[in-house]
Amino acid sequence: MRLHIGSDHAGFALKERVKEHLIAEGHAVTDVGTHSEEAVDYPAYALQVGRAVATGQADLGVLVCGSGLGMEIAANKVHGVRAVQVIDPEFARMARSHNNANVITLAGRYTDEPTAFEIVDTFLATPFEGGRHERRVEGISDIENGGGR
Ligand code: RB5
Repeated sequence: MRLHIGSDHAGFALKERVKEHLIAEGHAVTDVGTHSEEAVDYPAYALQVGRAVATGQADLGVLVCGSGLGMEIAANKVHGVRAVQVIDPEFARMARSHNNANVITLAGRYTDEPTAFEIVDTFLATPFEGGRHERRVEGISDIENGGGR
């Protein structure tokens, strides 16, 4: 898969490990930064990864900050992004199968490495179920487009 990954300083260490893990699995990973633990502001990275996913440059995106929450909120401001903060692999599965989430955000300060690997692996391996969920995800897009059902 073509993946974009990014983090702020608080997510940097976990982002590096997750990136290595994904590359080892054979994914094409573009790292938009940050590249150190020097303090930065997370919205810039959420924007880059969100845009790559929304424009089709990437199949899916991965973002890491301290809690995963700021990245989630910021990425969801990009039209076409459905970002979810996940701390448990089961929710990664649900986010793909029911919600067709296209960006996952991780909590660098609260998620250990093996759990993070399991979360991203589950996220990448789980297809969107479609069916009744298609209509519901379309409903989310309708809200984004100024309408609503
Ligand atoms: C940085 O201290 C922290 O606020 C950030 O990484 C993230 O957790 C925000 O949601």
